[in-house]
Amino acid sequence: MSTPAPRQRFHEGTTIEDLKAYMTPFVVQLGYVFNDDTEFVDEVLSSELEILDQTGDVYCPCRVRTGDPKEDLKVVCPCIPFYADQFAKLRKCWCGLFVLHDVEDGSELHGVIDVPEGPADVPVARVESFPDGTVRTVRIGRREVALARVENDFYALGNVCRHAFGPLGQGFVEGHTVICPWHGWRYDVRDGTTDHPDADVKTYPVTVRDGYVIVTV
Ligand code: SF4
Ligand code: FES
Repeated sequence: MSTPAPRQRFHEGTTIEDLKAYMTPFVVQLGYVFNDDTEFVDEVLSSELEILDQTGDVYCPCRVRTGDPKEDLKVVCPCIPFYADQFAKLRKCWCGLFVLHDVEDGSELHGVIDVPEGPADVPVARVESFPDGTVRTVRIGRREVALARVENDFYALGNVCRHAFGPLGQGFVEGHTVICPWHGWRYDVRDGTTDHPDADVKTYPVTVRDGYVIVTV
């Protein structure tokens, strides 16, 4: 029996429109849209198509690849989750291909610029696609955060269980408690506390704006 071919995300002859259709649902979940400077968008996506031809994937045209495939996954477009805190402060991705959904004129937001100091308000999910009584893991730059919904309130806490590093974002919600999926340690989503001594997890402020859940980091 022959081995199945690896799944291809892009077929031969992929076009700019194909890339837009592929990327849009993903970035919309994270509070981003394509820059309204369409000429610039087409320029960046054309570069990505050239890179796709050469390498087999849509690596970022404005970032340097290291040659380490695992590390370079962080610069496959759209790379937003890996730099979500920095992009939230810039209000755009490095290249400016994507801007936050409430940016009115993206034409100035091109190219790599310095990231401002201070906290970042990072959109991490659409309210409408987050069922009550669930928890999930969201990536915000270098952090992984467990994001839980209890009725109409959202809570963000450190994702790593203090027992044996279980992923709280893959756990269960019971009232205001998140239960670790590995051995059942319980954390209060409101303040990260647990019954076990010195094992509380960090919490982050969460707001809801324009239909997005926003975590401040
Ligand atoms: S910086 Fe922008 S264009 Fe570059 S990979 Fe990230 S999302 Fe894509
Ligand atoms: S790792 Fe979470 S309860 Fe054991």
